[in-house]
Amino acid sequence: MNYDPLLPEVRANLYAHYAYLRDQAPVYWVESLQAWAVSRYADVVYVLKNPPLFSSSAFFDQLLGEFNPVPEIPWMITSDPPAHTRLRKLANKGFMPGIIRNLAPRVGAIAAELIGRIRDKREFDFVHDFSAAFPVSVIAEMLGIEPERRVDFKRWADDIISASSRATATKEDRQRIRQSVNDARAYFEATITRRRQAPGDDIISAFVRAEEENQALTAPEILSLSILLLLGGTETTTNLLGSTMVTFLEQPDDVAKVRRDPSLISQLIEESLRYHSPVQALFRQTTQAVEIAGTTIPANVTVMPLLASANRDARKFPDPERFDLTRNADGHVALGHGVHFCLGAPLARLEAKVALEALLPQLPSVSTTAQPITWIDSFFVRGPKTLPLAFAGV
Ligand code: HEM
Repeated sequence: MNYDPLLPEVRANLYAHYAYLRDQAPVYWVESLQAWAVSRYADVVYVLKNPPLFSSSAFFDQLLGEFNPVPEIPWMITSDPPAHTRLRKLANKGFMPGIIRNLAPRVGAIAAELIGRIRDKREFDFVHDFSAAFPVSVIAEMLGIEPERRVDFKRWADDIISASSRATATKEDRQRIRQSVNDARAYFEATITRRRQAPGDDIISAFVRAEEENQALTAPEILSLSILLLLGGTETTTNLLGSTMVTFLEQPDDVAKVRRDPSLISQLIEESLRYHSPVQALFRQTTQAVEIAGTTIPANVTVMPLLASANRDARKFPDPERFDLTRNADGHVALGHGVHFCLGAPLARLEAKVALEALLPQLPSVSTTAQPITWIDSFFVRGPKTLPLAFAGV
């Protein structure tokens, strides 16, 4: 089996490829990405918890190449300890559990407003009308940026993340990505300048205060952190919600179960993270030669831990190809592992919970007209591209 995730036919049958890799080639050279794919759970965890051996420093060179919107400095996500520790501590201030809890009513109001609009239609696209619009509105609110421009934010985030597939991009794709990189950068530079003049109680203002009070952050660091929150906070949660909806359509009994017992929602979210892995893979760079599963990987090369494969490894999760609402999915790596564990995890979980609580009462009357489901053209993130739904008898 040739695992080349840039090929659409491989992406159409991804999980069979992951199973093959885990069983036959747990460390596999992917020519098109010039990276060693690591597919077993224990090996993926080993890579992620060892920054001295597996550095994040080249993550964006591998993921975004020339489309990095702030190439002049290391970002939090492309730093190793101790530089990473400093940035993470500062960024964490915006994601403390208390702050996320206080955000809950506003997140609920945004979900309710979007569902209200859907209810007025007989047919709608779940991705466009809900799962894409919802997280981008929430993060826009946290960053204090205009929710009305969420269509632009979403386009920038999608285009920048699509740079991961630049090897197969057309000239027009590249021009579009470049435009979004430039627009996002210009927009955030202007917003940061405005916050310096008139600070508010949003995260960008908090970053600006950290810069002014004790030089804790530099201007390009504020820019990169702000753009990172936009990138990290949009497509990922969109894909989690979209994929969860696909499962509901495939396994309607689960909808009934969770409706009867809403305390299952948190468990459902974790199983959905495990099963669907909205972020399929990460990148690291070896700092010295290392042996994994009997293969020696040379120094200074790219390693690609396959989160989605680790999450389906039977060595960790029994009967892994089954979506099982009652499973204990603890230990899944959908949100990463180790020092870079998703900063936005509490927000992502809150968003998913609020969204599902609001959506579940509507679901029994919903069906899809899309068969088969079309998935985003990416090896890096995974979720339905569109999901046309219709209310029965409205
Ligand atoms: C279901 C939704 C999400 C998924 C699956 C997800 C996944 C991940 C993963 C796998 C990483 C690890 C990256 C690495 O090790 O290199 C990560 C890091 C990160 N995520 Fe998320 N994420 C989600 C939601 C969010 C949200 C809502 C935000 C912010 C608003 C966010 C912000 C970040 C940031 C800033 C990092 C970098 C942390 C660091 O470098 O220390 N994520 N995320």
